[in-house]
Amino acid sequence: MKTLVVGASGAIGRLLVEQLLASGRSVKVVVRSTSDFFDAWRYDGHLTVIKRNITEITVEEMSELLADCDSVVSCLGHNLTLKGIYGKPRRLVADTVSVISEAILINAFEMPIRFVLMNTAGNANRDLDEPLSTGQKLVIGLVRLFLPPHQDNEKAADYLRIKIGQNNRFIEWVVVRPDTLIDEAKVSAYSLHNSPTRSAIFDPGKTSRVNVGHFMTALVSDDQMWSKWKGKMPVIYNVTEEMKYAILSSNRNHASIIGMKCWIG
Ligand SMILES: NC(=O)c1ccc[n+]([C@@H]2O[C@H](COP(=O)([O-])OP(=O)(O)OC[C@H]3O[C@@H](n4cnc5c(N)ncnc54)[C@H](OP(=O)(O)O)[C@@H]3O)[C@@H](O)[C@H]2O)c1
Repeated sequence: MKTLVVGASGAIGRLLVEQLLASGRSVKVVVRSTSDFFDAWRYDGHLTVIKRNITEITVEEMSELLADCDSVVSCLGHNLTLKGIYGKPRRLVADTVSVISEAILINAFEMPIRFVLMNTAGNANRDLDEPLSTGQKLVIGLVRLFLPPHQDNEKAADYLRIKIGQNNRFIEWVVVRPDTLIDEAKVSAYSLHNSPTRSAIFDPGKTSRVNVGHFMTALVSDDQMWSKWKGKMPVIYNVTEEMKYAILSSNRNHASIIGMKCWIG
């Protein structure tokens, strides 16, 4: 079975595709334009590249694309240009989540499809009582008003959280929430939390894109990892020295650490 990746041409998308292929999975990507990156991987036979704009794909077409897939990952995000932030499509991520979900429901496979959505630590999981300071609520309110991509991320996560919910027979989902994204060459230690352990506005943590790709790969291919996080919105941070000791000395926030060998060993 295959994993469909949308937003595969982005910084995280590419790292995810590389890691999925390296883990032995077959991958299908939908990209607006092909590039040397995809051409290089296509020769190994495990990568299928579909050159289409994701915003033009209908539910029926999506159901065909998903016919041989057991999982789908969205790494879509608005380009950080004036047109990307304020132009159309305003609901790039939320509309794509809706098309993918409807397509999965049409296919109605016996086994539920795993759906992983790239999101942000700036978006609260309203299924949980995630405390926000008044200052943070105010700033997030302004961000929601003046930066449409944030609202899009909120709507996309809400679609899975509310419309699909926890007991859908055909779709299981995980919404991945990184904090400030950074680029690092290699996978390093990272921690996973049910809720943010720091303020995404006033005290943001760091998350390397390659670690997000690593976690997403584990989600689609590791049953234990999936059972642990399905229906949740895990927050992922790179492990700092400070966090290492905090997490080791108390298991609060239900944190779990991936890649401990990276810093223990
Ligand atoms: N910046 C942060 O610190 C931070 C923190 C937490 C979460 N995030 C989230 O992570 C995302 C960034 O991930 P990233 O660095 O991998 O982003 P990225 O490199 O900008 O990738 C965005 C992907 O979305 C696609 N895309 C954008 N606009 C599109 C459109 N109109 N139609 C079709 N496809 C479109 C891009 O395709 P093309 O290559 O064709 O443009 C690309 O594949 C953000 O958007 C945000 O939601 C960011």
